[in-house]
Amino acid sequence: MTELVRTRAELAAARSRLAERLGPDDCLGLVPTMGALHAGHLALFDAARAGCAAVVASIFVNPMQFSQATDLARYPRRLAEDLALCEQHGVDLVWAPDEAEIYPDGPVQVWVTAGALADQLEGPNRPGHFDGVLTVVTKLFAAVRPDRAYFGEKDYQQLMLIRQLVRDLGQPVRVEAVPTVREPDGLALSSRNVLLSPSERDSARALSAALMAGRDAAGPAAAVLAAARAVLAEAVGVDVEYLELRDPLLAPPPAAGPARLLVAARVGSVRLIDNVAVELAADGSGR
Ligand code: PAF
Repeated sequence: MTELVRTRAELAAARSRLAERLGPDDCLGLVPTMGALHAGHLALFDAARAGCAAVVASIFVNPMQFSQATDLARYPRRLAEDLALCEQHGVDLVWAPDEAEIYPDGPVQVWVTAGALADQLEGPNRPGHFDGVLTVVTKLFAAVRPDRAYFGEKDYQQLMLIRQLVRDLGQPVRVEAVPTVREPDGLALSSRNVLLSPSERDSARALSAALMAGRDAAGPAAAVLAAARAVLAEAVGVDVEYLELRDPLLAPPPAAGPARLLVAARVGSVRLIDNVAVELAADGSGR
């Protein structure tokens, strides 16, 4: 049975009860979410369930990570449905705090700054976004005190930044990455997908199609980017913000070997992101 708690005091009491059930080698897993749960979140719960004896999920739409008030206002919220999904996927405890519980004094005066890793890709397009993410994740870690925390590869730059946060601030938590879950046509699952109209939903397929075309090109960087760009150029109603290749840690891409292809685009008024792992081949050695 999933227990729902709202306040920090309730969380602390419920966490102690959970900890009493844990053996010395058992771990407690946290899945931080903003709710509006979909199969991507469920994969995080399942990974946490497989790796940990106790699973906590947080559900909090964090105002500090939204740069636009309209985006925050229309972010989907549906706690009752979310709780049912948590129950079905074996989550022991859900912490769904309100804003005052996380930011009791209003906007924080001291926060976590994302640093150079955020000066690219999503960072310039969403000022302050990653500072907001890292600050709230730090607060969630401090309150829940998990041994492991689970994040999706869909938000790849966020995942890299959270790994950096844990390393740089010495937080005692192991960050686990879970692969992106996709619709049958390739669209990466996102809570924002419900905001797409039927024709926008159709157009949105172009993002994953472009990434797969790039991945399948399996050549040098120029060939991978050209294959992906060709798909995006054909797409109707897709306003591309970036299509970029990086190495797996988001440094400039290598001449050959593992890399990451990342895309962001607006489809109507909905901003979507996606990424895939690609293998770059040195010039002349590609297929
Ligand atoms: O990925 C998300 O849903 C959010 O950015 C997170 C990590 C829960 C922080 O609010």
